[in-house]
Order: sequence, then C-alpha cells, then structure tokens
Amino acid sequence: MEMDRNLALELARVTEAAALSCARMMGRGDAMGADQAAVDAMRRAFDHVNIRGRVVIGEGERDEAPMLFIGEQVGAGWKSGAADSPKVDIAVDPLEGTNLCATGSPDSIAVIAVADDGKFLNAPDTYMEKIAVGPAGKGCIDLTQSATWNLHALAEAKRARVEDLTAIILERDRHQALIEEVRKAGARIRLITDGDVSAAISTCKDSTGIDILFGTGGAPEGVLAAAALRCIGGDMLGRLAYRSDDEMRRAEKMGVKDHKKIYRVDELAQGHVMFAATGVTDGAYLKGVHFFGGGATTHTVVMRSKSGTVRFIEAEHDFTRKPMYEWLKT
Ligand code: FBP
Repeated sequence: MEMDRNLALELARVTEAAALSCARMMGRGDAMGADQAAVDAMRRAFDHVNIRGRVVIGEGERDEAPMLFIGEQVGAGWKSGAADSPKVDIAVDPLEGTNLCATGSPDSIAVIAVADDGKFLNAPDTYMEKIAVGPAGKGCIDLTQSATWNLHALAEAKRARVEDLTAIILERDRHQALIEEVRKAGARIRLITDGDVSAAISTCKDSTGIDILFGTGGAPEGVLAAAALRCIGGDMLGRLAYRSDDEMRRAEKMGVKDHKKIYRVDELAQGHVMFAATGVTDGAYLKGVHFFGGGATTHTVVMRSKSGTVRFIEAEHDFTRKPMYEWLKT
C-alpha cells in the first residue's frame, strides 16, 4: 500500500499537537518537561493516523524511552488491521531544540518525517558531520573537501562572492577550527546554540538569509533534515562521527558497516518521503505557537518528495471545541 498524499496533512495534525503542548512551557527553563509534553501529545496524535508506522528515529532505544522508542509501532493501522493502511518508517523529534523552547529562543520545532518501509537510514544516537545547502547548491558540495572549498563552490553556483554567503553553525567548542576557517574564507556566520534541523532547512528559503550549514550535530537530526531537503530539492551530505567505541558498536548493531561512509541526501532518506514541522518558538522558517484567549495559532510546513510541493499551513485552534486541547486552556 503506497503512502496516500493526504497523509501529509495528517502529519501536520501530529506536529501541531506536539508544538501546542510544549509551547505552553516556553521559557520556563524546563527542557525535559517541555520535551515530555511534546512526546506525550505526539504519541496520542499518532493513534488517529491510518498508518502502520515503525519508529526508526525516535526518543531513544526501548530501554531508555517510554514512548516513541526505536522499533515502537505507531498508528491506527496496527489495531484496525486495515488493508489500506500503509507500512511506513517514522522519524520523529517531538521537540527539536529543547533548550530553545526552555529559554524561549528562536527556531524550536516539532518534526516528523515518513518514508516507505525500510527507507530511512537507521541512524544510531551518535553525531554526524553535515553540510547542507538549498536547491541552488545541489551537486556542488563535497564532505571530503574543506569548508573553504565548499564555500567557493557554492558562491560560484549562486553567482555570488563568498563574502555574500552566510553559513549557519552550531556554537560548540568542537567547531572552533571550522568557525575560524569560515571567517578566514570571508563568509558571514550565524552561530546558533541548538537546532540544526531548522538550520539545515533554512538554507532552502531565501528570506532566511542562510546559504549553507556546516558542522557536527546529532545523527538522528541528520536524517530528519535530509528528509526535508529531499522534498525541497536541497542537498546534504553526512558522515557519522562517534564519541566513543560504545557508540561505534551500537552503530554496527544497527547495521552500519562502513564507519567512514559519506551518506548522500538520498541515502539518508530514500524513496518517497513526507515531512512536516510546526514552529514551537518563532523562527526564521516558521512562526511559533501564539496563544490567545481560548485558542492558539500554529504555523506548519508540509512537504512531499514525490510532488515537490511545499505547503505552509497557518491554523487557528479553538480549544473549547477540541477535547484533546482542553488542558491547554489554562
Ligand atoms: P535536543 O532537541 O535533543 O535538545 O537537540 C538539539 C540539538 O541542538 C540538535 O539540533 C543538534 O543536532 C544536537 O542538539 C547537537 O548536539 P550537542 O548539543 O551534543 O552538540
């Protein structure tokens, strides 16, 4: 059973539910509590979606996550046994940028990606070195080359100077040399404290002013970003980066054979892919959740790789008419 295109809109409901729930906790300094609220809401919302989904990118392994753990079956299709219910791979990050939400900083989002069964890289919970660009840079990036080389290649593709480009990079000690190199090459930089999924996606929208993502972040986040970039026609490369031998062994258990392999965007997320994200806090790509008396507005992007359509959905939610959001009224 193939994924129906209307499934994309169902996914928007799921990310909206997660975003609405954790957005109530914006700025409270409770990253874990906000994450939990998003996880609970997303898990509940999945029960209304007619899929037989298997979580391949989730909150962690079964022993460390009570919900949305890797291997968990989600979706109404498992219970109903409906023949029209597609079997799909699910990648989720109910709250990407937990600290961003806890501090009310920009660009935290609730994210889901769905692919046909077996099509997402089963990424271990380790790091991934990444480069991501929008459609204008497709085919010109190379992870075996330096950041300087990549900036020149992108500048040429965009008929711009390196000085006109802006790179987005996680502000981490491990990126000191990278940041120095990009500065020396002449490009501008936006340093972010967290959230490299929305950072990768922001390379695909001109109004964000971001041209390229460099650096090492979470490997699961790499698969989620790749799903979005596949849909929009951007490009991305990723190479697993381990923090310990234990992580390397876990990766082997998950099927990774070549530890130095550079994954192309269509190897991180293969086949037909759908992606949905709802803004939690206001960001460059998506507006966050805004509450008003008795309701809230959400801003969601939904994409499909098959059609290439990128849809923005601005929704107004009336909590008084939706029992599932009753608790959000207070
Ligand atoms: P969380 O949502 O789990 O807090 O992750 C946020 C994030 O910034 C990701 O966007 C990024 O890939 C990863 O953490 C980077 O990891 P680290 O904080 O260990 O450098």
